[in-house]
Amino acid sequence: MTSVQNFNEVPAHVWPRNSLRQEDGVITIAGVPLPEIAEEYGTPVFVVDEDDFRSRCQDMAKAFGGGDNVHYASKAFLNKTIARWVDEEGLSLDIASLGELRIALAADFPASRITAHGNNKGPEFLRACVREGVSHIVLDSEQELELLDLIAAREGKIQEVLIRVKPGIEAHTHEFIATSHEDQKFGFSLASGSAFAAARAAVNAENLKLVGLHCHVGSQVFDAEGFSLAAERVLGLLSQIHAELDPAAVTGISVLDLGGGYGIAYTAAEEPLNVGAVATELIAKVAEHATSLGIETPQLMVEPGRAIVGPSTVTVYEVGTIKDVHVDDENTRRYISVDGGMSDNIRPALYGSEYDARVVSRFVDGDPVASRVVGSHCESGDILIHDQQYPSDIRTGDLMALAATGAYCYAMSSRYNQFTRPAVVAVRAGQTKLMLRRETLEDLLSLEP
Ligand SMILES: Cc1ncc(COP(=O)(O)O)c(C=O)c1O
Repeated sequence: MTSVQNFNEVPAHVWPRNSLRQEDGVITIAGVPLPEIAEEYGTPVFVVDEDDFRSRCQDMAKAFGGGDNVHYASKAFLNKTIARWVDEEGLSLDIASLGELRIALAADFPASRITAHGNNKGPEFLRACVREGVSHIVLDSEQELELLDLIAAREGKIQEVLIRVKPGIEAHTHEFIATSHEDQKFGFSLASGSAFAAARAAVNAENLKLVGLHCHVGSQVFDAEGFSLAAERVLGLLSQIHAELDPAAVTGISVLDLGGGYGIAYTAAEEPLNVGAVATELIAKVAEHATSLGIETPQLMVEPGRAIVGPSTVTVYEVGTIKDVHVDDENTRRYISVDGGMSDNIRPALYGSEYDARVVSRFVDGDPVASRVVGSHCESGDILIHDQQYPSDIRTGDLMALAATGAYCYAMSSRYNQFTRPAVVAVRAGQTKLMLRRETLEDLLSLEP
């Protein structure tokens, strides 16, 4: 729990790198006071620290030996500006839908640096990927393999593919976002032999070229052991492919893509995964294990989303109704309502995720009160902060921000209760730039014929 003594601090490992609490109590990001952004763009508003985002792209590229090896997972958050930043920083891009492809291409992101994912891609998406020249398509089922071979033949192309492997690792994270154990929808099982069968089918397919293997052990992972164990297992499959399939057909299989999942700090008490250290160890282990198997060391690729965009962003809300609720004979709880909620951040309701919240418009120094920060939706589960001791002088009209909301918040947003999606504003060197405008009430009606 956040104690009241440090409520006015801004934990540097959770908040964007260019956050600062000024002497008047106002928090600025990249030199822009958050109340000014709230005034200009309304609340709730997502504020993205551009230099924070770019510096995390650079950190990842450095850790994994260059931007070609790092595919930013656009599912975490994507719009044209983000795609341009990723391009300018020299990273590659991971997409998982026609919509993500469309946005990337609209930002002139080179298709030759895009990898496509999905368990149910469908002919329209696959055709668009092949036509546009997406570098890799990650095969997720036998059905898709056959369909893609057919589509590539019709388009007169040879499509490079990876096989998504389930290495049977359950990373230490919430079950719904751990995607590498057996009983789930993604990929081909290593244990049952279906991953090897898929590799053989891809090698034999006339219009596909197998260039590597892929796995993803989960999201918000802190136990780096999961990554190296998965790598070891997938390398075992690579060595089986080299031993048992036509040597001429398998020489070009040189990519080991280990997906994303690098954990970040959402609260002051958490520590982010040290990606630099994890990468160094992982690269060494992959080389060592490949040598012991007698195969060439593959090119190691990764797909971080959250670790790049998550900490770059805060969501600023305005505090509305404050209500003290009788819990039992001895306890009351203060319900602090803000003007957004589960429509702009579903993660606490979906995963029980925790966040760091601060009043950003002034200092607060009241006595600690058991508090809950809730949204404005018609759901009692519309809770952003479940249980914290917050200062008693937080009042209606204060601006409160939740940090580390860059990943899977706007990306998972909805219009529940016909709320309009917030604006997203980038800040850099004292300037703001609108990335996505706030939706309007007219937008709500615009879908109806
Ligand atoms: C295949 C794949 N790659 C990358 C990611 C990105 O994960 P994260 O944002 O945790 O880094 C995901 C997330 O679910 C994924 O499914």
